Amino acid sequence: MNKLVKQDTRSERRITVAVPAGSPSTYDVVVGSGLLAGIGDRLARLSAGAAWGVISDAHVQGLVGESVVAALEAAGCRAVLLVFPAGEQFKTRGTVSDLQNGAIEAGLGRDAWILTVGGGVVGDVGGFVAATLFRGLPMAQVPTSLLAMVDSSVGGKTGVDTPAGKNLVGAFHQPRWVLADVDTLATLPDAELRAGLAEVIKYGVILDQQLFIDLEDGLLESCATRVPEALISVIERCVAIKARVVADDERETNWRQVLNFGHTIGHAVEMLSKYSMRHGEAVAIGMICEAHLAQRLVGAPPDTPVRIRDLCSRAGLPTEIPASLTPDAMLEAARRDKKTRANQIRCALPRQIGAMAHHDGQWAVEVPDSELIAAIEAN
Ligand code: GLY
Repeated sequence: MNKLVKQDTRSERRITVAVPAGSPSTYDVVVGSGLLAGIGDRLARLSAGAAWGVISDAHVQGLVGESVVAALEAAGCRAVLLVFPAGEQFKTRGTVSDLQNGAIEAGLGRDAWILTVGGGVVGDVGGFVAATLFRGLPMAQVPTSLLAMVDSSVGGKTGVDTPAGKNLVGAFHQPRWVLADVDTLATLPDAELRAGLAEVIKYGVILDQQLFIDLEDGLLESCATRVPEALISVIERCVAIKARVVADDERETNWRQVLNFGHTIGHAVEMLSKYSMRHGEAVAIGMICEAHLAQRLVGAPPDTPVRIRDLCSRAGLPTEIPASLTPDAMLEAARRDKKTRANQIRCALPRQIGAMAHHDGQWAVEVPDSELIAAIEAN
């Protein structure tokens, strides 16, 4: 086993996320193994026995969703399972509306809590239901994919895609509690695990040089082969980074944009692939292209794109922009990114592995169209 990851899987790790303006202003993310066994009692205590709307997708429903509902019932809570079809193509306003109607018809009221059980799409959709139903219900999350554990279940971003782009309709709605049990990753398809590793690599690039070096030194393979200690350690480190960023800029006015490294081009690739490409796969390509931009625009060392490409490749992630996507189409899709101002594309770029660049106090740097095209062509 990799010397970097020898840890005790029995103890749970707890990272507290502080959101000064949030309600509540802090919440815990609990990471470990074997934790789902006690989830009914923990949720019952958290909600003082209130009813729960448990939102899951058709894939995770049978793997985890139903047993969580049974655990809630065994702990004395009423629980209603609300399920929608799996896949990014169902991350829509229509799905949200169906789930809201289902919750109301099942008799859940203003005193109910929402629990999301699933990957990133379930968390985003279910979180948006929680943010909007009865003008806001408290929510907890049980992420069951690596990507959701390290990124989307923490920080309060909820929402859906529209035909014009990803995550264009949504709300900030912080969870009250997050439980990441790595046992749920045992049934995660390999491609989904690899997609999660893209976000892990991202955290190393943006704020944790040592994490990036540890991944290069073999931690990546330990995670890819699902060594529980490696997964727990990496999830804890990534969540701790995200907690630091979110604490300073919950609403992404500036600093939180660093979490978007690789996502300006990544979202464009993902959307142009009509979501046939996984989010993490598109982010891998986006990180490599944006690393070329970082080299050209903010003086990142020349080996930056190479090191990121190597790690993505070792993780089994795609590293090339699909030939069917033309630079012009990429440019137009990237322009729809939420960081764009006055039609000017902006990207969060590393000045080196582990540290982000800023210019005039802004963490998203203006990218001339010609530079974006050059970076796409350099990919
Ligand atoms: N996934 C990026 C963020 O939460 O801001």
